[in-house]
Amino acid sequence: MTVIAEATLDLGDPELYRSEDRFALWREHAAADALVWSGPGSSPRGFWSVFSHEACRKVLSPTAPFTSEYGMMIGFDAEQPDNSGGKMLVVTDGEHHTHLRQMVAPFLSKAMATTLGEFIDEEVRSCVDEALEAGGADVALRIGPRLPAAVVCEVLGVPAQDRERLVELTNHAFGGNDSAFDKMSPSEAHSEILMYFYELVSHRRRSPGDDLVSTLLADGRLGPRDVLVNCNNVLIGGNETTRHAITGSFHALSTVPEALPRLREDPSLLGKAVEEVVRWTSPAMHVLRVATEDVELNGRMLPKGTPVVAWLPAANSDERVFSDPRAFQVDRHPNRHLGFGNGPHHCLGAALARAELAAVLRVLAERVSEISLAAEPKWMRSNLTQGYVGLQVELH
Ligand code: HEM
Repeated sequence: MTVIAEATLDLGDPELYRSEDRFALWREHAAADALVWSGPGSSPRGFWSVFSHEACRKVLSPTAPFTSEYGMMIGFDAEQPDNSGGKMLVVTDGEHHTHLRQMVAPFLSKAMATTLGEFIDEEVRSCVDEALEAGGADVALRIGPRLPAAVVCEVLGVPAQDRERLVELTNHAFGGNDSAFDKMSPSEAHSEILMYFYELVSHRRRSPGDDLVSTLLADGRLGPRDVLVNCNNVLIGGNETTRHAITGSFHALSTVPEALPRLREDPSLLGKAVEEVVRWTSPAMHVLRVATEDVELNGRMLPKGTPVVAWLPAANSDERVFSDPRAFQVDRHPNRHLGFGNGPHHCLGAALARAELAAVLRVLAERVSEISLAAEPKWMRSNLTQGYVGLQVELH
């Protein structure tokens, strides 16, 4: 049965997601296949929300009459569009989207993940060894961010001499307001990165290489600004979510002490465990679409131009699809999670994210016998990313 309701809460209020009460909220709304209206507040004109696996899949499906071109986050809609719409991969549709995806895809592919395999393993080993020596770490600060930032630098072709500073800046830009680096705020750090990319784009125009920036530049259809916004897309896509999936894998493993020994004894479980980490952590919290025509959703007609939000962690805890959804099951199968989205915008970096998570789980299984939480997790204040401000663990 579908429940249609006015939200008593503004579901876009980032404060809501600092509390673990969100898990019950998502589970109940997914079970009820709810369609919920949040009035103006976090979003200037309000938005509808869906939660069940089926409804989220439907809104994101390739044939659904919805677009990303006005933006894909709460706050954007047909009246307040994202100014990157039609230029940046994730907020572009149709033929230009297909074209951009074809250009970017080889740099984020399985083949790229294989090429970077040894590099990824080494990064993970050094982070885990450092934490083991210290007896533990705040994974959200010391481990989660490092690998995704380093991988994105590789993909974008950041020259070796700039790598360390870029990784630090990236850490800071996506680390929330709690981190301190060169006295910059996260948004100042992000601007600094964009300035850096601006210079990198100018440099690659003069002396092209075989990297993503040069490939985008070589395409006659894209100006330097288009190249810049798409570098930014890969930067954000690669960092904002993966760091929390990596951090969350330590959290998940701490809830099931037998998981690490099982992975050690049977490495063939690794693939299933990676999917379960993506489902259990669901770092991409919502995606927004705008109806391109009048559309019926969960029994209600929504007019053209209506913004609809799909809550992915809710879909990933829909009991019709996942038994005991809050349990982390290393061998969960089937696992039709929507952690990477669905349809034409399905995560282009999924192969890289999977490779990073597989390396983390493999190295932990090899080197660590037990992970335990040294303090309750501290959650980010965000409606977009389900992630950690702090995750203090002990490693044995
Ligand atoms: C798109 C999740 C890692 C690059 C997406 C979308 C989701 C997602 C849900 C769809 C957005 C939408 O439908 O509007 C995740 C998660 C990750 C992850 C949970 C880690 C566990 C990565 C990595 C990269 C990346 C490592 C690149 C290095 C992208 C790009 C898109 C995208 C470029 C846009 C694709 C398009 O619009 O066609 N991601 N992502 N992501 N992601 Fe990821």
